[in-house]
Amino acid sequence: MKITVLTGAGVSAESGLGTFRDKDGLWTKYDLEEVATPQGFARNPGLVHDFYNARRANCMQAMPNAAHDALARLEEVSAHNVTLITQNVDDLHERAGSQTVIHMHGALMQATCAVCRATWAAPLTMAPDDLCPDCAAPATRPDIVWFGEVPYHMDQIAEAVSNADLFVAIGTSAEVYPAAGLVELAQGRTLEINLAPSAQANAFEDHLIGPATKVVPNWVAGLL
Ligand code: APR
Repeated sequence: MKITVLTGAGVSAESGLGTFRDKDGLWTKYDLEEVATPQGFARNPGLVHDFYNARRANCMQAMPNAAHDALARLEEVSAHNVTLITQNVDDLHERAGSQTVIHMHGALMQATCAVCRATWAAPLTMAPDDLCPDCAAPATRPDIVWFGEVPYHMDQIAEAVSNADLFVAIGTSAEVYPAAGLVELAQGRTLEINLAPSAQANAFEDHLIGPATKVVPNWVAGLL
């Protein structure tokens, strides 16, 4: 069976990385216009680098949880053909052993140049006067897709969702497009695994409600 999985911040919540729109979520503490838009970066690159430097440090201290581990197991040991797409910018899926992770919103551990778009492994901390290793412009930025920018790998993602026998969304509020609209492309069965019904819950045929570290391992066990 071809299974396509889309994860959101809820899959990393129990690793301590928090989410965006829950109580105490990141967007209750920071103004996303200031730290997650190209305009915010142009206005105050130092503030944006500080924000992502802190998230990068948190990410390095966090550990993958049972949900990340279960998804890696699904890919590794099952006979199913699994495609894992994530909205998350942490590397917990990779550190749990997932081999191919499609980061549609970019990756905290990757840096890019705003001028030449070269990419490289991000240093622990980035600053506005860092020079691009390729073109030497003082224009380095986290390789994150900000609001108003085009998510990565959308053709590959659309194909993986539309060709799937089963499309599963895990730990996402389905508030942000195009990720929130992917369920509309699904031709096979659809399953939402979440702590609470998302904004797109009605578009899914099946639902499993509960914390990802409990529900995802049980769901994967049923497939192995
Ligand atoms: N287990 C399962 N689901 C959980 C858990 C948990 N332990 N904790 C929270 N959730 C669910 C919440 O119910 C919510 O529906 O995870 C979802 C998190 O929603 P958001 O905070 O909106 O995160 P996400 O959907 O990933 O946001 C999408 O928005 O800000 C942008 O680029 C950012 O990728 C992000 C995108």
